[in-house]
Amino acid sequence: MSSTGPLAGDPAFDTVLVVDFGAQYAQLIARRVREAHVYSEIVPHTMPVAEMLARRPKAIILSGGPKSVHVESAPAIDPEVYDSGVPVLGICYGAQLLAHQLGGSVARTGRGEYGRTPLTLLASSLLFADQPDTQDVWMSHFDAIATTPDGFVATARAPDAPVAAFEHRGRRLYGVQFHPEVVHTARGQEILKRFLYDVCGCRPNWTRTSIIEASVQAIQAQVGSDRVLCALSGGVDSSVAAALVHKAIGSQLTCVYVDTGLMRAGEAEQVEDTFRGQFQIDLVRAKAGDRFLEALHEVVEPEEKRKAIGATFIRVFEEVAADVDNARFLVQGTLYPDVIESGTEDAARIKSHHNVGGLPAEMNLELIEPLRSLFKDEVRAVGEELGLPEEIVWRQPFPGPGLAVRIVGAVTPERLELLRAADAIVLEEVKRAGLYRSLWQSFAVLPAVHTVGVMGDERTYAYPVVIRAVTSDDAMTADWARLPYDLLERLSSRIIGEVAGVNRVAFDVTSKPPGTIEWE
Ligand code: XMP
Repeated sequence: MSSTGPLAGDPAFDTVLVVDFGAQYAQLIARRVREAHVYSEIVPHTMPVAEMLARRPKAIILSGGPKSVHVESAPAIDPEVYDSGVPVLGICYGAQLLAHQLGGSVARTGRGEYGRTPLTLLASSLLFADQPDTQDVWMSHFDAIATTPDGFVATARAPDAPVAAFEHRGRRLYGVQFHPEVVHTARGQEILKRFLYDVCGCRPNWTRTSIIEASVQAIQAQVGSDRVLCALSGGVDSSVAAALVHKAIGSQLTCVYVDTGLMRAGEAEQVEDTFRGQFQIDLVRAKAGDRFLEALHEVVEPEEKRKAIGATFIRVFEEVAADVDNARFLVQGTLYPDVIESGTEDAARIKSHHNVGGLPAEMNLELIEPLRSLFKDEVRAVGEELGLPEEIVWRQPFPGPGLAVRIVGAVTPERLELLRAADAIVLEEVKRAGLYRSLWQSFAVLPAVHTVGVMGDERTYAYPVVIRAVTSDDAMTADWARLPYDLLERLSSRIIGEVAGVNRVAFDVTSKPPGTIEWE
């Protein structure tokens, strides 16, 4: 499968390639380029240069990396890239590699620089136009470039980096030892823009409206007059994908919302209101709560729950889809980070995530992946531009198996109702405290045990509810959120006061690792 999305190669946009040398910075660089309104793609350093050039890049950026250019297995790029005529910007390891490959020297000084470092300009440069003579930049390097290659000039220095920036203006080859892509380099984005606009002549036209326009054309070209199905979950990705496809092909799209009965309070209704009401999309809401409860009857083990839910989901979806004549395509909400990571992912499987990925193989549908070129923040921007409500565009992630994996123990209608009510209070109070967007997820968990309490003069014997709130960038790791005590106090008194059957509230103070975000 192509590593790029539907907008790759669209002549409406200039392309910047970010060559990944194995640091965590390549994605960040690619996002910063997009924030400068220029389309970027991440490519592995092992990609042959001819293949890179076939993508007709306007610029190539070499990312940082964890290695030294002096070690044997140091990742490199074919030096012919420097003679291709395409401007190159090396960042950190990328700058050292550029210097090393073109005959400069990179020294093991024994004195690395980490963190905020003063940078002093030595010569005028397009990169630093209108910048002060000294500024703080973010450094993270051990080796340092000692001498520039022939014909290059050093344009900036730092205390332990005599060549902190260098260039060959005529050949349009640039290197910076510091990280312009991180926020700690306050003027870093300006430096990137000078490279993109002034050195490379990139047009800043990658905007939410142009993304939508180009996506609409790509979808129309792919679909023609055929019918398209979309499994809508109510989450950000499938919602934006559905709205985008609908804009492109209107009534050729049918959305199927499998109502598992395992969703949060009011969610199914909101999906109906938005997609059928506001967008007038052909939406089928398959109310299958009873079937899911039946499949989950007395199932306790988390992976068994996921299996039961996944299988039921597919069955319900297939039944509904069978009523849609001649469907040929299925919309999938794959994002660009999924595309980048699927090539390299070797992480152990902790949980078998249920999503709709299993559908097309069995149903013989071709995939449409309208978000395959986009980062999450771009998906949100597109969603806003398409007029999706804020509650959907900014919705926190929610697991496909829903509340079933937040009830520790068997899933029953009573427990579902109780958890849904407690969860609604958590979300309402977190929103009221202005914390909803800054938390990756915040929700209630129901361990199906009973604890003793006292209310009035009565002994109670009822469920505890656990509040879980985490901050995270990508769900791979997460930190438990330091919720303010007064918020916790409100949550505790409201949940116990308003949700019958609960007599205790606890707060989960486990990060990931060692915990996972969900309890199951
Ligand atoms: P964990 O609990 O593994 O969760 O730390 C990481 C992220 O994935 C979500 N999650 C799921 N999403 N199907 C999904 O679609 C699942 O089975 C599932 N399990 C966990 C979780 O909410 C968090 O955002």
